[in-house]
Amino acid sequence: MKKITVAIDGYSSCGKSTFAKILADYAGYVYVDTGAMYRAIALYVLTHCPSQDSAERTEWIKHNLTDDIPLTGLGDTIRTLEVGNLASQVAVIPEVRHFLVRKQQQMGLAGGVVMDGRDIGTVVFPKAELKIFLTARPEVRAMRRFKELEGKGTPQPFEDVLRDVNDRDYRDTHREESPLRQAEDAIVLDNSDMEIPEQVTYLTKLLDEAVAKKNA
Ligand code: DC
Repeated sequence: MKKITVAIDGYSSCGKSTFAKILADYAGYVYVDTGAMYRAIALYVLTHCPSQDSAERTEWIKHNLTDDIPLTGLGDTIRTLEVGNLASQVAVIPEVRHFLVRKQQQMGLAGGVVMDGRDIGTVVFPKAELKIFLTARPEVRAMRRFKELEGKGTPQPFEDVLRDVNDRDYRDTHREESPLRQAEDAIVLDNSDMEIPEQVTYLTKLLDEAVAKKNA
């Protein structure tokens, strides 16, 4: 049975990683969370860069992009608002993107991966057999993040979370290097008013169809 590549892109807090994990489990594929890789670089900057100035940080990271940066196994340390915010700032640096995109392409060389991010269907795997673009209204996404932070015992005011969602959307869609945008051949799913099981049914059906097409 030939394996396919699944690209899941979309805005922050749309459930990309939830569905990517479910689809990977369902198909027996490898799940790759590319946002975690950008977050890992952000965490590395926060803990190693001597400067807090944005321009100096950019120069510093350009000169310190090596395989010494741990990209996996960082757990919840990369799941804070601070790291998420800095991740979307380091993600505008072309050198950072090239460094990570190369690694992501290597991880998916053999197919059989479900990768989630912002540029998977457009840049990392433009030939992915199944591309899904997730979106939802900003207020809905902010409420999901708000509840998540509350559940983790690190609550933040809703207004701050909403502002953060809007700032991130803006940065992710307006950066020069591979901005977040929908691939022309992506299937768009607005899940503002959908529950998880309904989406899982829909997405697994899409996956089954794409695999069947590949093996026809
Ligand atoms: O999906 P996430 O919230 O963990 O991603 C953190 C940031 O990383 C996000 O604001 C934008 C950036 N990112 C990116 O630019 N490209 C990707 N493929 C994945 C994430």
